[in-house]
Amino acid sequence: MNNDPLAFILNSIPSLISYVDRDLRYKFVNQSYGRWFGLEPEKVIGKTVVEIIGQAGLESIQKHIDDTLSGKFTEFERVIPYRFGGTKETHSTYVPDFGPDGQVQGFVALVQDVTEMRESERLVAEQRVKMVNSSKLAALGEMAAGLAHEINNPLFVIHGRAERLKELAQDETLDLSQVIQAAEIIEATSMRVSKIVRGLQTLSRDGGKDQIEKVSVLKLFTENAELCFQRFKNHGIELQIGTVDKNLVIECRPVQISQVILNLLNNAHDAVSMETSSKWVHLTALALGDQIQISVTDSGAGIPADLQEKIFRPFFTTKKIGSGTGLGLSISRTIVESHQGTLVLDDTSETTRFVCTLPKEQ
Ligand SMILES: Nc1ncnc2c1ncn2[C@@H]1O[C@H](COP(=O)(O)OP(=O)(O)OP(=O)(O)O)[C@@H](O)[C@H]1O
Ligand SMILES: [Mg+2]
Repeated sequence: MNNDPLAFILNSIPSLISYVDRDLRYKFVNQSYGRWFGLEPEKVIGKTVVEIIGQAGLESIQKHIDDTLSGKFTEFERVIPYRFGGTKETHSTYVPDFGPDGQVQGFVALVQDVTEMRESERLVAEQRVKMVNSSKLAALGEMAAGLAHEINNPLFVIHGRAERLKELAQDETLDLSQVIQAAEIIEATSMRVSKIVRGLQTLSRDGGKDQIEKVSVLKLFTENAELCFQRFKNHGIELQIGTVDKNLVIECRPVQISQVILNLLNNAHDAVSMETSSKWVHLTALALGDQIQISVTDSGAGIPADLQEKIFRPFFTTKKIGSGTGLGLSISRTIVESHQGTLVLDDTSETTRFVCTLPKEQ
């Protein structure tokens, strides 16, 4: 070890370390600090901050210096021009140094170059957005088969009733009540198709920037059930919607809350479809004071205790490669939390039950 171990350690640290007194004069700077300005540390010590970083540089940190000199531990980030061109993102920490009289006599400044760290954080965030979009696409693809069926059936009904109308028109003794009946069926059935299409639009859009709206909980439930209904039926799973007061409304970003309900229903579907006997999924809502509790319960085998913590982590999945992205629950939790709510697995329930609690008003 060097004969001045402390100086050796400080000079080996790849961050800028300095000690500045009350008059903003450098008492100490390490090698990294000097190197940043292309100077030997001895050329900096004894100079004032403004002599080294310039008037504009000083002005940009003046507020933080004042805070520190008034006794506050201060942390901030800022982008600064780099001597070799371009800019660097830096994280600074200022620690006040209190003298024996309790007055701040100077401060230690630690400046770290966080350019690469911030850049990789941005990349991860971008990647996450891409994954979210591709997981939504995967969910859409999976539902496409069921949806084709969902849309084909009503089209068949509409076609049949239109034929019937033509027949009636050829009949001399036109029975008006039958015409009205056929028209009503066409009307109701095409409404159903347009509802499904609207559900799809809801799902494929990014709801993050949507406005907060007041929506009926019953409407949220029926729209989502509409989307899942055929898939559940195909696997012999009973989808039960609990009684929901039709006047129960919630303030939320409806596209996002739909996505949460759909994720939970899809997970329940996947868990139950492996079962052989009892196959059901319940979707219920309960008003509790100024909150609404939405829960999805299923008759599946449940989640092993050692996995219960992990399932909310991004990319955690037990599904085979290519079928689950493991993002469903983590995205859902993020959405619910952005609505000031909570999404948890109810460990007191005998069957698997996810509970989403949301405030009625945002
Ligand atoms: N109702 C449930 N019953 C049993 N296990 C569940 C249930 N819901 C979630 N899980 C478990 O939690 C894991 C993570 O769920 P999550 O929704 O985050 O991802 P995924 O369903 O695997 O994939 P994705 O939703 O992205 O398609 C699942 O792989 C599954 O093991
Ligand atoms: Mg899922």
